[in-house]
Amino acid sequence: MTKPLDGIKIIDFTHVQAGPACTQLLAWFGADVIKVERPGSGDVTRNQLRDIPDADALYFTMLNSNKKSLTLDTKKPEGKEVLEKLIRESDVLVENFGPGALDRMGFSWERLNELNPKMIVASVKGFSDGHHYDDLKVYENVAQCAGGAASTTGFWDGPPTISAAALGDSNTGMHLAIGILTALLGRDKTGKGQKVAVSMQDSVLNLCRVKLRDQQRLERVGYLEEYPQYPHGEFGDVVPRGGNAGGGGQPGWVLKCKGWETDSNAYIYFTIQGHAWEPICKALGKPEWIDDPAYRTAEARQPHIFEIFKTIETWLADKTKFEAVDILRKFDIPCAPVLTMKELANDPSLRASGTIVEVPHKKRGSYLTVGSPIKFSDMKPEVTASPLLGEHTDEVLASLGYSKQEIFNLREAKAV
Ligand code: COA
Repeated sequence: MTKPLDGIKIIDFTHVQAGPACTQLLAWFGADVIKVERPGSGDVTRNQLRDIPDADALYFTMLNSNKKSLTLDTKKPEGKEVLEKLIRESDVLVENFGPGALDRMGFSWERLNELNPKMIVASVKGFSDGHHYDDLKVYENVAQCAGGAASTTGFWDGPPTISAAALGDSNTGMHLAIGILTALLGRDKTGKGQKVAVSMQDSVLNLCRVKLRDQQRLERVGYLEEYPQYPHGEFGDVVPRGGNAGGGGQPGWVLKCKGWETDSNAYIYFTIQGHAWEPICKALGKPEWIDDPAYRTAEARQPHIFEIFKTIETWLADKTKFEAVDILRKFDIPCAPVLTMKELANDPSLRASGTIVEVPHKKRGSYLTVGSPIKFSDMKPEVTASPLLGEHTDEVLASLGYSKQEIFNLREAKAV
């Protein structure tokens, strides 16, 4: 089956998570992604948190599927020459080195543009160019703090909290993928490549936009009515942490179900959608609440919303999280069980949709990974194993016109 990105050649000069997540997505959609790695060691994640001695760690395999691996020392003159050849015939180069690393290697944007004016050069950095922190190296949690996620996540009586979701890393990679695809469409019109830059801080902030909304509301009216602090608590001059509150216009909370005393995930998320109040009352066996002035409107409910949640927990006490959702779904109430990674890994729907896939790997045996979360009517992205270090070095060099003897010489020079 042909894929939309068939024929697009990408130099994947990325490591860790943000860059690899971007190029993996593009590889799923058909791009020819060649991961350039340092000979001998490769991407650090090959070795990080290993669960099987001598086999690539899951951290690497889950971010580098569908790619080729070319080992190349791009600081050696022989390696630079290979990279230049590759640049001349590629459509995109993606990198997420620390600030200035590509320039120090001799591949500034100007040089890359000179080598191939049609090539798109896509970069992830911690902070955007010209930002007063643009010299900083950045990892996931640093970005969550810098982008406003940490100060607004967690409970009001606890410290700023990091989300388990990779808002700084994979999220930035997804933003970069959108930028690359946009630049490719732009190139179709202009014939020219361009530089696409995404910062981790900006990408986190882009997902925290409702908190920037709340900052402005707070400054105008002095309170935020959907936060647990309202109306009994205090508001300062910055958006507070709201625990498990809804965040949008709908109040919601994580509620205990049967077994919570021993199972730390026996919870559901329950949303009190304004117009669903009547079905909620019916589902809970509380028809008297429907027209009660103390419950009828969102404004009337908010001052005692936690009492309402407590009553719902009483109703949930003899129901598992799955039983509860099976009842509530019949009343069209937005809710979900709090699912563990074990439950997700074994979820038959996620397996059937290709969101979780099992991939055979030469050294590891098979492993689970996430498949494309984006579904198409005319394409089913297939996930193939991540490459071994340098697995495609000879193949890529041969495709660039190197003879067997020249490849041997490059090996002797430790350039590949
Ligand atoms: N051959 C030779 N040298 C290579 C090479 C290759 N194939 N690939 C990389 N290198 C060199 C680079 O040239 C650079 O050398 P230099 O610092 O002497 O110029 C070095 O390896 C890599 O440096 P850097 O990217 O800064 O690595 P690091 O381990 O010190 O920092 C990060 C890691 C992730 C903190 C940093 O890369 C970073 O801030 N990246 C941008 C933001 C980002 O993506 N963060 C991670 C999100 S998961």
